[in-house]
Amino acid sequence: MTGANRQGRRRAALRPLVAIVAAGLCGSLATAMAAPPKVQFSRQVLPMLNKECGGCHRGAAAPGGYSLESQERLFAGGRHGRAVVPGKSGESTLVKYLLGELKPQMPPGKPLPLDTIALVRRWIDEGAKIDSMVAPVERGGIMRDAMPMTATPRLPKKEGAAQLAGIPLPAALSQSAPVTALAYSPDGTLLAAGGYRAVRLLDPATGAVVQTLSGPCDQVLSVSWSSDGKRLAAAGGAAGVAGEVCLWEAGPAAGPWAKPRILKEHADSIAGIAWRPGAAEFATASPDKTVKLWDAVGGKVVQTLKDHVDAVFSVAYSPDGQWMASGSGDRTVKLYQTASRARVASFSHGDAVSAIAFNAKSELLAAACVDKQIKVWPVKAGPVENPLRGHGEGEAVNAIAFSADGSTFVWGAQNRKVRIWNGEVTNHRREMNDSADWVYAVAASPDGKTVAAGGGDGKVYFWSTADGKLLKSVTLGAGAAAVAAVTTGDKK
Ligand code: HEC
Repeated sequence: MTGANRQGRRRAALRPLVAIVAAGLCGSLATAMAAPPKVQFSRQVLPMLNKECGGCHRGAAAPGGYSLESQERLFAGGRHGRAVVPGKSGESTLVKYLLGELKPQMPPGKPLPLDTIALVRRWIDEGAKIDSMVAPVERGGIMRDAMPMTATPRLPKKEGAAQLAGIPLPAALSQSAPVTALAYSPDGTLLAAGGYRAVRLLDPATGAVVQTLSGPCDQVLSVSWSSDGKRLAAAGGAAGVAGEVCLWEAGPAAGPWAKPRILKEHADSIAGIAWRPGAAEFATASPDKTVKLWDAVGGKVVQTLKDHVDAVFSVAYSPDGQWMASGSGDRTVKLYQTASRARVASFSHGDAVSAIAFNAKSELLAAACVDKQIKVWPVKAGPVENPLRGHGEGEAVNAIAFSADGSTFVWGAQNRKVRIWNGEVTNHRREMNDSADWVYAVAASPDGKTVAAGGGDGKVYFWSTADGKLLKSVTLGAGAAAVAAVTTGDKK
């Protein structure tokens, strides 16, 4: 089946959902003789928001920048704009996230019943009046759990981290968990794919899952190999509570990779992780606005960088080890000298920076942005007025990568497209449309001959760089125990 067909099918699958919700709304209005009583926010909506969303969307480091603590913030939304537009549920990103039109669907892993979503829509379409931000506490039912959000203290950091284990997580996801992180091992013999509570090691030649590494407490948002290929780090954690790093070491003790070392830091999940080339050190980037530098042997943070004023989504080291960079929701990329840990430059983008990468020669720094642009800067200390190049994409770009041999640059975007460019990012070579959902992660094999991508459809795709042909796709399935199914490009 062609990519276009699958996209069409998916869109069609989404449409009835929207229609049902809309019908629920219109039907109830039409059948009632008089208009039904208006939705009362404090009784009918707020208790649900407290119960289903309040555990995450609170405090200074609320996920996506979206906090439900005040009326103002409930309406203003987060990174993706106005959550509640009174009278216009169709324009309210809150509804789009509940419906799964914007990903990840909220609440993550357990969508709300359609009639609950319909009620939220009705409240918005009726003008989104807020009678009170304090939910009445009643005995029994949903009201029992309702608590005024503003009266709930934010847990001190330590307790928050301790609470991590107690976070309720869905036992199994009904659909495939998204693939949110990809990285080839330095010798190209393995591809690590981060998903829900697991990292799969795939054999790039066959697509077979060689090993499933469990241990992460939630979705894995970033993976990175040490330059000798002997260690693998996966980052994630509990949104709004604490970040988590899982470190696996290949070795004879207890079977290779068997048990991860689990390290907890940051006041929010960790969105980006990168090993420093040739060193037992790595860096982590978090929506808590900080970048932390770690000593991998001691498992301790040695320095916390606080140069960003908003969430930090990605971090990278140049292959020669000289430079480190971080990309943030504050629309900037900061460049550091690795040895001195001194910040030496800051580059500006038009919106939140979602991903960054250095090219093989450590001369170029590419940054992808929610403003649908990729910009490429020269790597040098001191002010740089303008990027060397800028390339537009129809939608926000989620992931970028260079191949280690310098021949290839790849990006993946929310429009489901994956594009291959040459290593200098001057010539567009291929466009691939096989992915059926947002692309969250891309990787290029060290020899530049293959690119891989993963995303919301839970699959890993492999394409040949030379002709853009789909070599195979692998369905990783839900949960850590799921079996992978490999489809070769020819059978499609
Ligand atoms: C387990 C934690 C968790 C729960 C529970 C949760 N969310 Fe989220 N939410 C997140 C994370 C993480 C993000 C950021 C996703 C991303 O990276 O884009 C997010 C993003 C959002 C955004 C997008 C903000 C923006 O503009 O970028 C909205 C809106 C949202 N959530 C609403 C809700 C609502 C409403 C509920 C309850 C019905 C809910 N969430 C429950 C973790 C959670």
